[in-house]
Amino acid sequence: MANTDEVAIERRRGDAGWWRQATVYQIYPRSFADANGDGVGDLEGILSRIDHLDQLGVDAVWLSPFYPSALADGGYDVDDYRDVSPELGDLATFDRLVTALHERGIKVIVDIVPNHSSNRHRLFQDALAAAPGSPERDRYLFRDGTGPRGAEPPSDWNSFFGGPAWTRVPDGQWYLHLFTAEQPDWNWHHPDVRADFLRTLRFWGDRGVDGFRVDVAHLLAKDLPAELPSWAELTRGTDPADPAPPRYPAGHHPLWDRDELDEIYAQWRAVFDSYSPPLTAVAEAWVPAERRVRYASKQNLGQAFTFDLLETPWDAGSFHQIIRDNLALAAKSGTSSTWVFSNHDVVRHATRFGLPKGMSGRRWLLEGADPALEDRVTGLRRARAATLLAMALPGSMYLYQGEELGLPEVGDIPADRRQDPTYFRSKGTDLGRDGARVALPWTSTGVSFGFGGCAPPLPQPTWFADFSVERQRDDPASTLSFYRHALRLRRELIQDETLEWLNLGPDLVGFRRGGGWTAVTNFGSRPRPLPAGDVLLLSGEPLDAPGLLPADTTAWLRRDSLRS
Ligand code: NOJ
Ligand code: CA
Repeated sequence: MANTDEVAIERRRGDAGWWRQATVYQIYPRSFADANGDGVGDLEGILSRIDHLDQLGVDAVWLSPFYPSALADGGYDVDDYRDVSPELGDLATFDRLVTALHERGIKVIVDIVPNHSSNRHRLFQDALAAAPGSPERDRYLFRDGTGPRGAEPPSDWNSFFGGPAWTRVPDGQWYLHLFTAEQPDWNWHHPDVRADFLRTLRFWGDRGVDGFRVDVAHLLAKDLPAELPSWAELTRGTDPADPAPPRYPAGHHPLWDRDELDEIYAQWRAVFDSYSPPLTAVAEAWVPAERRVRYASKQNLGQAFTFDLLETPWDAGSFHQIIRDNLALAAKSGTSSTWVFSNHDVVRHATRFGLPKGMSGRRWLLEGADPALEDRVTGLRRARAATLLAMALPGSMYLYQGEELGLPEVGDIPADRRQDPTYFRSKGTDLGRDGARVALPWTSTGVSFGFGGCAPPLPQPTWFADFSVERQRDDPASTLSFYRHALRLRRELIQDETLEWLNLGPDLVGFRRGGGWTAVTNFGSRPRPLPAGDVLLLSGEPLDAPGLLPADTTAWLRRDSLRS
């Protein structure tokens, strides 16, 4: 087995295709580690925990926004795209972080939020100070209101976070915000906006980052007609339960997934390709799978998140189909697929897979998933099995901080401690995303479980002690040890991007990878025969009978001698 130094060297290679089968670890900086003890995670905190990332064996980290922000949306309301929030550090600390990660062979991906700025952004402040119809206003999407004295919004559009999508400014005009009122949408037809983002990409590229995660990449381009359509028209046919044909053909919707995004991203691509190796990008694009290929193509962003596994219940047939379809789609656009179970926006998968049938595919608590109904043991068993299955697939694996601890969602945050705007804008009907953003437990004792010096604003439950890094570090049966082992093996085993399906019967999903290793998952409730071969790793308890794979478990095997 390669020693740690060799692994780091391997990871450091300037291979242009490094991202194709990389493991990328998402850090939500404010809840990762707090070095100065003010209750807010910071860049020094990440620096202080680099050993954790190194020992975990990830190829890259993706940093959620660390830019100056009033935190109307957890930092996705950016005041300045080319700076660091003073609460989190400064550019010099950022540079040290990039250097330190690179020294360990870990690449750095930063989050770019191009659909909207914050309302404190200099250009939005300029727009407010300028008159209606001015060039400054034209960088955002201002419109006159309707009704007497324009006192009604220009249309009945909703924000994705609940409530109206228009907010009125003192001189009577309204501006569009598809998220919170503190997140005005940019006008991407404006050349200044395009040029400013190209500058931002170069700014971070020149500081040594390796790639970008592109926030709501499908929303930037908009074409608002003089006569604004109703929200019902805009959303017609988007609900699978609604048989009505969509009002707009694919690529021509006024607000999302417009074909003209290709032009914008082609300009970005030219910037990416001016670096060696080229910078990478991954699109967060909530679009139908067949449209995803555009964002993932080589001329475009190069890769796109596949959220399908994150929206599906624990079911062999669904997993098999999703994997098959996504591998085919990725091949079609010359990219590699991505696999994601958890991120800062969704219910952690150790909880999701432990929710009762019918709820377990729910990615957001607003969709009726009740964390109080969680079966923790089943949830974690399935989460580990699902993760080990995905880690065996061709493509990149995106992990979210805390999943390596098997951390469940924190379901019972008191109303007066919640921060997520979705909770407030939905008047509490949507519990929101705070439960996935609680500060990590590093130690099993202490006021913040080793996160920092004082209790973080989102309260950590007492049971976090059991999930702490300290508790798990030296326990070979822990989820942390399991992730470390799996990622080390993944790096050793993965050779090419080939996959050959095995037909193993109901409840089993299995495939053989290039180089002669096999992964098999038992989605059923009873043990099932395991294909022949040496067991390299199991996601759960040891086999209780030789040759039988327990329920809700994945196995990796070497030299399978399957009769085909
Ligand atoms: C997607 C981000 O992941 C989410 O956290 C954010 O609220 C929205 N985009 C708006 O930026
Ligand atoms: Ca801090």
